[in-house]
Amino acid sequence: MSSFYVTTPIYYVNAAPHLGHAYTTIAADVLARHHRQRGDSVFFLTGTDEHGEPVADAAHALGISAQELADRNSERFRALAPKIGASNDFFIRTTDERHMAVVREVLFKVYENCFVYKGTYEGWYCPKCADFKAENEIDEGDRCPIHHIPLTREQEDNYFFALSRFQEPLERLYAERKDFVAPRTRYNEALSFIRSGLRDVPLTRHKLSWGVPVPWDSEHVFYVWFDALLNYYSALSFAHAPTLAGGTVDAGVRDAGKGDLLDTFWPPNVHLIAKDILRFHAVYWPALLMAAEIELPKRLFVHGYLLMEGEKMSKSLGNVLDPFEVIERFGSDALRFYLLRDVSFGQDGSVSTASFEQRYESELANEYGNLASRTLAMIGRYRDGALVEGAPDQLLVADFDGMVERVCELVDKVQLTAALDEIWGAVRRLNRYVEEQAPWQLAKDPSRAGDLDCALRTLAEGLRVVSVLLHPFMPASTERLLDALGARDTSLGAARFGAETIDRVQPLEPLFPKIETAGPAMA
Ligand code: MSP
Repeated sequence: MSSFYVTTPIYYVNAAPHLGHAYTTIAADVLARHHRQRGDSVFFLTGTDEHGEPVADAAHALGISAQELADRNSERFRALAPKIGASNDFFIRTTDERHMAVVREVLFKVYENCFVYKGTYEGWYCPKCADFKAENEIDEGDRCPIHHIPLTREQEDNYFFALSRFQEPLERLYAERKDFVAPRTRYNEALSFIRSGLRDVPLTRHKLSWGVPVPWDSEHVFYVWFDALLNYYSALSFAHAPTLAGGTVDAGVRDAGKGDLLDTFWPPNVHLIAKDILRFHAVYWPALLMAAEIELPKRLFVHGYLLMEGEKMSKSLGNVLDPFEVIERFGSDALRFYLLRDVSFGQDGSVSTASFEQRYESELANEYGNLASRTLAMIGRYRDGALVEGAPDQLLVADFDGMVERVCELVDKVQLTAALDEIWGAVRRLNRYVEEQAPWQLAKDPSRAGDLDCALRTLAEGLRVVSVLLHPFMPASTERLLDALGARDTSLGAARFGAETIDRVQPLEPLFPKIETAGPAMA
């Protein structure tokens, strides 16, 4: 059995979750569910990043303690996961003592390995990014290029991480592992940052108390990014009793004891991130792991931004679309489908209520939902819900050839939109098949009873196959449909004609009701 470990960034708790966070978690969930379908032992991690200046500042502005704010908002992120159908195996919080202990342990090792020294930092700092900016990254008027706020000039006695000593090892890593960062544009971006010359970076903060205390100097806390990055490693050392939100517990995970999780799942197969945090993951993170003598992750996949009116959605900019609202009206599957279908995964893309409604109506309600309703209704009407055993129509079977392999290949490259396209091609093929066969005509001619049986059987089988393949994308609705088809097996092996026999089907309420009946359209 292979193992598969996928992570999302851990989200800042200085504000509430929004659609951008949901996006990464949904994509990671599709990967996790797909790998479970393959029979892999899967570990899917998400969580919250709770230390650092942005959180301390936000709590201060609200007049509450940082811990109170962290508790409150972390809970909202935890609640988001099951709402969007995410089957994460664990939810990590960086204020968890067990995480903090691992941070101290690993960074002490880095210190002992002589990659840490004391110095004075002077530079431009953005409190919202919790990041120091290089001179060439600063917007006019000494402003943050992301948040457009004035940067502060900071001077601080810090411990430094000797990042510059990893210049060569990182260049070697990028030369040897061309798939370390994908897509290629992001690989190039990270490599050119490395080639431009790495400078040492602050490892600790002196004036801040909201963080993990530095074991060798209690006046300092670790810079939040080093604390945060280590969540990917620390979680496996204590998440031995995983909780699964809304899914079946993965046997490999359930059986693994404490400590075994690191043995089984380290290094991560995919860290999913957006491009805003590329440098931390593509440069700092591998350097830190090298300094601590820990094996490097296999790959980072960097997706683009969801844009609303052309600007990245973010809590600091205030232009947020509430995922809870969308889900309440249309269900989590509709949101999952829309985000992965409408925005080519890996690229930036605009999202809007208009394009959501258009996809919902034309693809979910009509192409998939209606195909399901029609097929089940015809089997009910013409055959009383029963299917006669026999071979499916070879014409259609041939059109499905190689689809599972192509989907696997695309998912392996984290090309989720392309994988969904491939499956959607089969949904459309099935709709054409209905028109070609016109079962309502066949039903009028008793001499064509055999052809009608074959057409109905082929449609039911085709629906079952596409639903198994769509299951990682739309777990709730595909399960409802598979249930109505009397199909049990959602493993990838079942995504072939004849893998499971359907003998009787049940009627089904529309999977995706038309918008008029689903409630008012999104404002
Ligand atoms: N806490 C850090 C990450 C530490 S990971 C060791 C952080 N948190 S964040 O709350 O700002 O989340 C950033 C991530 O949220 C992005 O990398 C991306 O995964 C997701 N997104 C936030 N806004 C997004 C969009 N508008 N579009 C796409 N992804 C979005 O950075």
